[in-house]
Amino acid sequence: MEKREKTVSMAEIMTPDMANFSGNVHGGYILSFIDKVAYACACRYAGTAIVTLSVDRVYFKDPVHVGDLLTFHASINFVGTSSMEVGVKVVAENLKTGEKRHTNTCYLTMVALDDNKKPTAVPKLELNNEIDKRRFEEAKIRRETRLKLYREHLERKKQME
Ligand SMILES: CC(C)(COP(=O)(O)OP(=O)(O)OC[C@H]1O[C@@H](n2cnc3c(N)ncnc32)[C@H](O)[C@@H]1OP(=O)(O)O)[C@@H](O)C(=O)NCCC(=O)NCCS
Repeated sequence: MEKREKTVSMAEIMTPDMANFSGNVHGGYILSFIDKVAYACACRYAGTAIVTLSVDRVYFKDPVHVGDLLTFHASINFVGTSSMEVGVKVVAENLKTGEKRHTNTCYLTMVALDDNKKPTAVPKLELNNEIDKRRFEEAKIRRETRLKLYREHLERKKQME
């Protein structure tokens, strides 16, 4: 199988129409960009239709300001059979001072679909260096945790029926 690219970076300038009532950028815009870059990354890697299955907890530890240039760096951390974990790192740059801040990191599970909208296999992930290996191992643990929580949720629901 041909080697597929596993990263995408996208940048967007934060404009006044994106502000919330405090004058900083509304979290919903940032979430929307995160979903878009994760989509682009997964689609480029798998070469199929893609849906977002889940977005892990997102923590806004620092406000993003109007006028900042936000750069979203996405990479495929882990591949199961049809699912991929995409890690997205968000960096805000003050274009006047050049100061850069890492404002968010978030993990999304994206699923590849075939022409019948059923989950389909994606290429195995090549781990080329120590960073790839660490990201893969950590993503594997997060996937196991997600699946465990989901199974427990289903079990509790079943017990209530
Ligand atoms: C994504 C979707 C097709 C998966 O359907 P499904 O019936 O769960 O399919 P499967 O059981 O084959 O699971 C597909 C993959 O998702 C993984 N998965 C399913 N539920 C999961 C969960 N709760 N947590 C983590 N992974 C999960 C499975 O492990 C599998 O991964 P693998 O193939 O790498 O092993 C289906 O849930 C869907 O269509 N969701 C809506 C997506 C959407 O519209 N998103 C846009 C936002 S509204």
